[in-house]
This record gives sequence, structure tokens and C-alpha cells, in this order.
Amino acid sequence: MVEIAYYTVTGQTRRFIKKTELDAYEIDDADPYHDMDQPFILIVPAYDDNMMDSVIDFLNFGSNKENLVGVIGTGNRNFNQLYIHTAKDIANSLKAPILYDFEFNGTPTDVARVKEIVANYESTEA
Ligand SMILES: Cc1cc2nc3c(=O)[nH]c(=O)nc-3n(C[C@H](O)[C@H](O)[C@H](O)COP(=O)(O)O)c2cc1C
Repeated sequence: MVEIAYYTVTGQTRRFIKKTELDAYEIDDADPYHDMDQPFILIVPAYDDNMMDSVIDFLNFGSNKENLVGVIGTGNRNFNQLYIHTAKDIANSLKAPILYDFEFNGTPTDVARVKEIVANYESTEA
């Protein structure tokens, strides 16, 4: 089963996760050294690179880089060409696909699409 790890600074991504009712691991600034130990999707908002140290520490820990199967980017389209740049940078550097993107805490459509992506991933793995 594919797991989910996510990061949040202002709580929008956490609100999104709650709406999906999916189990998910929240990357913790106080201790980002958590090994997912199985395939997972990363959901990550976009911020300046210097605000992403916990996510980078998390990805560099244990087998997380190897177990990352895809990235879902969140952001704000007002940032134009920088929209979801953090997710894109991580996906490019770790050669993982961008599976989806949405703004803020997501619309009902975003919630449904992400649940579908997780469910489909599970069915192709089975
Ligand atoms: C200081 C700051 C910088 C941001 N930079 C970007 C950005 O470069 N690109 C983008 O798409 N969104 C950007 N955003 C928007 C956030 O990524 C977006 O609001 C996201 O939903 C926040 O998720 P969170 O509440 O889980 O931290 C920025 C927000 C803040 C407060």
C-alpha cells in the first residue's frame, strides 16, 4: 500500500489531508528523521528553499529517496512561474513524477482526484 508523507507550514496541506481521510505522516520540523520504509507519495507546498530544510532532511534520511514514488505539489497560482516550484524541484532532482497539483487546502475535486491517485497506485501494485 502506498503511504503519504506531507509537509505544512501554515496548515493548508494538513486541512487537505484531513478532508481526504487518508492516513498520512506529517514531516516534523522538530524531528524530520523518519524512515517511511515503504513506497510513499510526498505532498509538499511551495516556499523559499530555505524554508524546506525539514523536507530535505526527511528525504535524505533512511530509504526515503528510494521509496518516493511521486510528488503532489501545492501552492498558489498567483506565484505564476513559481507555482509549485518546490514540488517540481524535488521531482526533478529525485527523478520522481509530479502526480498532481492543487492550491491551498484543495477543492472537493482535488480531494477526489488525490484519493483516486492513491487508490489507483494501490491497485497497480497489488
Ligand atoms: C512566504 C510564502 C511563500 C510562498 N511561495 C510560493 C511559491 O513560490 N509558489 C507557490 O506556488 N506558492 C507559494 N506560496 C503559497 C503556499 O505554498 C500555499 O499557500 C500552500 O497552500 C501553503 O501550504 P501550507 O499551509 O500547508 O504550508 C507561498 C506562501 C508563503 C506564505
